[in-house]
Amino acid sequence: EKADNENLRSPICCIMGHVDAGKTKLLDCIRGTNVQEGEAGGITQQIGATYLPGENLRDRINRELKVHVGLKVPGLLLIDTPGHESFMNLRSRGSGLCDIAILVVDIMDGIKPQTVESLKLLKMRKTPFIVALNKVDRLYGWKTCHNASIVKAKNQQSKDVQNEFERRLTEIIAQFKEQGLNSNLYYRIKRGENEEKREKEEKGEREETISIVPTSAISGEGIPDMLLLLVKWCQRDMVEKLTYRDKVQCTVLEVKVNEGDGTTIDVVLVNGVLHEGDQIVVCGMQGPIVTTIRALSTPHPLKELRVKGTYLHHKEIKAAQFIKIAAQDLKNAVAGTDIYVVGPNDDLEVVKELTMGD
Ligand code: GTP
Ligand code: MG
Ligand code: NA
Repeated sequence: EKADNENLRSPICCIMGHVDAGKTKLLDCIRGTNVQEGEAGGITQQIGATYLPGENLRDRINRELKVHVGLKVPGLLLIDTPGHESFMNLRSRGSGLCDIAILVVDIMDGIKPQTVESLKLLKMRKTPFIVALNKVDRLYGWKTCHNASIVKAKNQQSKDVQNEFERRLTEIIAQFKEQGLNSNLYYRIKRGENEEKREKEEKGEREETISIVPTSAISGEGIPDMLLLLVKWCQRDMVEKLTYRDKVQCTVLEVKVNEGDGTTIDVVLVNGVLHEGDQIVVCGMQGPIVTTIRALSTPHPLKELRVKGTYLHHKEIKAAQFIKIAAQDLKNAVAGTDIYVVGPNDDLEVVKELTMGD
């Protein structure tokens, strides 16, 4: 299939990093929600998922940066992962699903064990990522500039704050270097620098420079920059990967046993269309589960999938989206596996084998 600029799906972006770096809070800041404060002990224990529609993305960027982004992606699908060390499996699942990632690092703490672990996952899967250097508002004496671009916010700070910022930035760049990665403040990366490096990299020489965006999830500094960077990058470098394809590609995020409603599965539909009534095969703990989609629903835009709320119901739904599927016999479905739709010309036995083959 040929890449087609006009037919891009929403990119899937995973938020990763050490516990309490501010991953959920960053999402709250983007969504205008307060999910983090509702978490037990302030710790994320499940994969989270949110759809950020294009109009919100555009607003958020234009309002502050006054740049007009010719938005070609419909929106952005954001996956939240837990940073606590015991949730390695969820980090792995989340990072396995995404097109791009944001690695969140606390500017006061620098690189920590689960930052290193996240880096390994990202390297292993060759996932492109940016670094959000979060909690800049915690620098001593920081003057709040709500939702401002980081350049503007930094210029408002005293010499002391700016020096402290540079000191910590330099230290963290050195820590990344120890991990074998070049990184720099995103607007200090020279134009053409990465194009050159990418050519060399193809010859197996060296890595490109990772963009660092300083942010505050509390007062919003740097958030417009971060969103713009993600969008520009997807639309410049990932057109091929983000071109919508008809062949269904769908992965189970979580299996949920709900009272009354039976079991549902939360999935990410990466490509293709799902319909009510589709026969699907899901990987189960005791073998393939053949069932029929009874209902398809999505949370409202900007709402967190793992927070109970009202859902939008659909007869059919096109990728890319986070979707709740209701069907019989889903109790033993295995999270992290792919589901298959049985087409009119498909041999059910073959599809069953495919499903269990992953
Ligand atoms: P886990 O999901 O448990 O790994 O944590 P997390 O990375 O999602 O961090 P979370 O959003 O739970 O934030 C941890 C704590 O840091 C909370 O108390 C937040 O309010 C605080 N916090 C997050 N971001 C910022 C920030 O930019 N500035 C300040 N001052 N505090 C922040
Ligand atoms: Mg969290
Ligand atoms: Na936390």
